[in-house]
Amino acid sequence: MASLGHDVVGIDTDDSRAVSLSRGIAPFHEPGLPELLREGVNSGRLTFSGDISDAYGARVHFLAIGTPQGPSGAADLSYLFTAVAELMPFVQAGDVVVGKSTVPVGVAARIADVVESAGARLVWNPEFLREGLAIRDTLSPDRMVYGVREGDTDSVAVLDDLYSQILLSGMPRMVTDFATSELVKVAANAFLATKISFINAMAEIAEVTGADITQLADALGQDPRIGRRFLNAGLGFGGGCLPKDIRGFIARAEELGVGESVSFLREVEAINLRRRDRAVQLVRNELGPRLVGATVAVLGLAFKPDSDDVRDSPAIDVARRLSALGARVVATDPHAITAARAIVPEIEFRATAHEAMEGADIVVVLTEWADYKELEPAGILTLVSTPTVIDGRNCLDSDSWSAAGWRVLSLGRAVPAELVAV
Ligand code: UGA
Repeated sequence: MASLGHDVVGIDTDDSRAVSLSRGIAPFHEPGLPELLREGVNSGRLTFSGDISDAYGARVHFLAIGTPQGPSGAADLSYLFTAVAELMPFVQAGDVVVGKSTVPVGVAARIADVVESAGARLVWNPEFLREGLAIRDTLSPDRMVYGVREGDTDSVAVLDDLYSQILLSGMPRMVTDFATSELVKVAANAFLATKISFINAMAEIAEVTGADITQLADALGQDPRIGRRFLNAGLGFGGGCLPKDIRGFIARAEELGVGESVSFLREVEAINLRRRDRAVQLVRNELGPRLVGATVAVLGLAFKPDSDDVRDSPAIDVARRLSALGARVVATDPHAITAARAIVPEIEFRATAHEAMEGADIVVVLTEWADYKELEPAGILTLVSTPTVIDGRNCLDSDSWSAAGWRVLSLGRAVPAELVAV
């Protein structure tokens, strides 16, 4: 918002975070964010505060509060409602409150009642940004959705003005009711998760028939009705959004008495988790009883490349399980080591892929960082004890690895011994 020319104050209950942001230090790895942050801070248009009274005087108030998964699977809304209650004394009549948080359908209407009691108005304006591409997705989104109270054209005009530079591109901007705007967000994530699990279900079929999952995805993707994006088979989805959002969606649909409508999402999750089992099984099959005490090099810990986020990371899960089975797991990641160390202290960490692979009995690629895709298979052959690699993300050029002398196993391609007659 500051880069679009607005004066912005970012407020967080964590004072120390506000202090480091004020110094231009981003709290997580996101390409381009430190530069944009420093530009905003240096321009004087972007400040940070730990004191919510600094919201007073703003015309627009964004709610960007986390809604983590609660113990029942449903979203925990306590942080969001606390923030709304704390903000209200500093909201003036005529202000607009903009909801960005991912919420179960029905929450926006409840927040609107609170906001309207102060003479302000609410717009539910979900974001669709991806980690690693957050800046591009925010400043050049595919679409904007404004969920408003019926007839609230004033708030629509305020948001159009706020986003005027973004809207110049002609990107679709839709005005809906609150429920539709909340559902667009969770339905989009549910669809993306379903697409990933669909291709991963096909990967299970490919593994027993000898079909090649990447070629299958490429051929399916040529059909514009299907599209190639989000058909990358492998370890499946993780992160702070897709897994929790589908669980939250199931929980909310059940509360609403329409649980059956999204019961397929349970299968989507089951397929997703089976891919992790498969990765562990491939390592077990390769090493057999030698797994105990064997050195397993794990390349990649983040839930996806260009992120240091390890929340619900499939890579962490696989690394942890291999360690629990008695392997000596030596892992690396370009950005996620600090975060990973806090949750899997039982494994060893190395700064580079080369160091992690030294003396390895097997190499497992679990996050498709560019660094790993670009590894020179012939050059690293002598580093390892046994040149076997499991490509958990279908990201390696298996022909060149095989030609260099590696045994390459992939999620979504057959291991010859496991093929059934077709
Ligand atoms: C996701 C959505 O893509 C965003 O549109 C949404 O705004 C965001 O959640 C959110 O709710 O805030 P993100 O979690 O950053 O974004 O990551 P994705 O790019 O969607 O990837 C999610 C997971 O799916 C990753 O673990 C990734 O490795 C996996 N994935 C993705 C696949 O396994 N195959 C694919 O083809 C694509």
